[in-house]
Amino acid sequence: MNEWLVFCMERTFIILKPDAMQRGLAGKILSRFERRGLKIVAAKMIHLTKEKCDEHYAHLKGKPFFAGLVTFMTSTPVICAVLEGKDAVELVRKMCGATNARAAEVGTIRGDFGLSTQANLIHASDSKETAEKEIARFFSKNEMHQWERDLEASYTYSADEKG
Ligand code: PPS
Repeated sequence: MNEWLVFCMERTFIILKPDAMQRGLAGKILSRFERRGLKIVAAKMIHLTKEKCDEHYAHLKGKPFFAGLVTFMTSTPVICAVLEGKDAVELVRKMCGATNARAAEVGTIRGDFGLSTQANLIHASDSKETAEKEIARFFSKNEMHQWERDLEASYTYSADEKG
């Protein structure tokens, strides 16, 4: 395996929210990240508990929408995944679009599929620090995979972008 793939690539965390699952959009959304060149290095389906939501959304406790958000996030199993690529955190947030899907740019996931701030299809880490914490919250080390997409070696990045 190329060393740069292991040490230089950034990772971010996503949750395909209950509305994405209910509307049968999970595959379509994951596919956008794959097509862009991002690599899935971990994925699993879980049914979030209230306790897990309390931890994951601790920074939102006290917001008027908090209880509703927890009810929504625990309503249906979700798919959690870790995506890897250069500048993955920022890139994935850009691809998701604005939190309020009605304000999201057309061409983004929320701008193409959503109309809501709560049912906005996807959660994505908002910084590298958050991504690290969120990945550790949802995945154990042995659930993370280091693997090489053949395309990465020559067709996804140039030589100077690999370092
Ligand atoms: S962001 O993009 O994370 O900075 O957005 P933020 O405003 O901090 O929102 C964090 C999460 O809270 C959800 N949210 C809401 N849910 C229901 N009603 C209202 N009004 C509302 N506002 C924000 C929003 O979907 C974000 O969920 P995550 O899972 O973090 O994307």
